[in-house]
Amino acid sequence: MVCIKVMIEEEETEKWLKYYSSFHQILLVGEGDFSFTLCLAQFFGSASNIVATTLDSYESLTKKYKRAKRNLELLEKLGAFVIHGVDATKMKLHTDIKMRKFDRIVFNFPHAGFHGREQNLQLIKKHRMLVGGFFNNASGMLRPNGEIHVNHKTSAPFCQWNLEELASRNSLLLLESVPFKIEDYPGYNNKRGDGWRCDEPFPLGECSTFKFIFSTRCKKMSTNHSHSTSVKNRTTFEQNNQVKLFSGHVGSTVYHDKFREEFGWLFSWYFTHVEETFGLHEERVVYNVHKAVKRGYDRFVTISSGRPSSDFIEFLRELRHLSLKRIKWLEQSLDGMRRR
Ligand SMILES: C[S@@+](CC[C@H](N)C(=O)[O-])C[C@H]1O[C@@H](n2cnc3c(N)ncnc32)[C@H](O)[C@@H]1O
Repeated sequence: MVCIKVMIEEEETEKWLKYYSSFHQILLVGEGDFSFTLCLAQFFGSASNIVATTLDSYESLTKKYKRAKRNLELLEKLGAFVIHGVDATKMKLHTDIKMRKFDRIVFNFPHAGFHGREQNLQLIKKHRMLVGGFFNNASGMLRPNGEIHVNHKTSAPFCQWNLEELASRNSLLLLESVPFKIEDYPGYNNKRGDGWRCDEPFPLGECSTFKFIFSTRCKKMSTNHSHSTSVKNRTTFEQNNQVKLFSGHVGSTVYHDKFREEFGWLFSWYFTHVEETFGLHEERVVYNVHKAVKRGYDRFVTISSGRPSSDFIEFLRELRHLSLKRIKWLEQSLDGMRRR
């Protein structure tokens, strides 16, 4: 019996919907009618890896959203753990989740309610307090390599919430922000969530998925700058993690100094080999290695869907190891041929 169970479990294949895997432990916060949770659960074929929460009680939720009851019934069948009355700004103390850690913590379109015009500074402050409180709680609830995702509008006045700065105050660093497309999540109905039109969708317009990771070094960053682009932040992330791969100018002294200092241990062997073979330090080899690593890094960023840059270094280490093994094998083969 145990054997059969183990075999079935082993045969389970991982399923990915955008940035979410059926193997992730996922916490959804501030859900509306639970249609986003249901979308993931139906795609995975199970919701056993999902904890979905709302601020609303069950009674209030089923009154607010006409499809909530049906969605909750389906989620229950798929094995979701649903909790009502969870305040995102206090959730780290919630009895049912305080001991758990997650690979993804997602808050879709956080909003503190419709209390006037969105441009109103007091209202923006309210929204910021909600998101800041969420970050403060979620930052301690991540598993290693975990990510916090916030879907949010990027046009004014929503960009004035300045998610990145709120995150950095809570040791979270923006990994990247990518355009959010609702059609990627079949069945998801975004809800206003407040007021007499709470069950209606709000116009999404320009919006993005903001992905944050935990970083002990980014508190300093929050005092240095408030606005920046994700490209700039990716650089900050790399700096925080000593991944200063491509700084400096190719061919200049600055480049060589940095390269030797930080990546020397990875590549010095190849350069020494070239020097020993050709009797001179070959500039073009250094230049071409740099270019190849840069190309590899760009490719890694494109296909790795948010994996930290430190994974790229691991990958380089592995390549180096294999490459050294291959050279050893070649040397032995040459030796053998010479002796024959
Ligand atoms: C614009 S609605 C979005 C609802 C849902 N996430 C969606 O995408 O359809 C904003 C949501 O934030 C929730 N919210 C507001 N304050 C909250 C808090 N302190 N803790 C948890 N959720 C909160 C509301 O209950 C509401 O569901």
